[in-house]
Amino acid sequence: MKRIAVLASGRGSNFQALIDAIRDGYLNVACAGLVTDNPGAYAIVRAREAGIPVRVIDYSLFSTKEDYEAALFSVMQSLDVDLFVLAGYMRILGPRIVREFSGRIINIHPALLPSFAGLHAQRQALEYGVRVSGCTVHFVDEGMDTGPIIIQACVPVFPGDDEESLSARILEKEHQCLPWAVRIVCEGRFRIEGRRVLVNEGNDTKNIAPGDTAHRPGKDRNPF
Ligand code: GAR
Repeated sequence: MKRIAVLASGRGSNFQALIDAIRDGYLNVACAGLVTDNPGAYAIVRAREAGIPVRVIDYSLFSTKEDYEAALFSVMQSLDVDLFVLAGYMRILGPRIVREFSGRIINIHPALLPSFAGLHAQRQALEYGVRVSGCTVHFVDEGMDTGPIIIQACVPVFPGDDEESLSARILEKEHQCLPWAVRIVCEGRFRIEGRRVLVNEGNDTKNIAPGDTAHRPGKDRNPF
């Protein structure tokens, strides 16, 4: 069975989506640890409830980013996992970590990349005035939110939206896309050609009409 670890900085609802997907048998992986830079992260509570080991690397206790990164690097190595999932991890990973774990780190971002990279993606989208936004799960490379895209799902932006309402609509899609992407990657059902991640979807798209972006709860959790 493949082993994953999750990096999260805060609330951890995407982490919870992974915990639930493992519990439900949708994801046949073991979660070997939660790593967080924030000792106050609610993700820690979720990990404890699920019996997942927690490693806190309190960013505020390090005098330089390099020292923090060195500590993170050794924790990541010690976890000995197949895949690291950044699920609301709010820092940029340094080049040493990205190189060492190349192809084994994925991230979820609350916008349709390459639009609105970085922090406050939902606010950026609203301020720009886009009519659709969404989420992206991608491999992590040395840029900021620039790695090859595994999946995207879109949501409408309504005239009355504020940051909170748009974030909530996107978050629903995130909770579908992230387990789906982890499953595809852990089952090795993809190959990368240049920037493109070509996914062998198997039965996951069965009975899903092309272009149908409706939420499909239930058996195959296909986020399209
Ligand atoms: C999610 O919307 C995630 O996409 C975003 O932070 C939120 C974390 O929520 N991540 C980023 O903005 C990374 N740049 P969660 O802690 O409830 O999963």
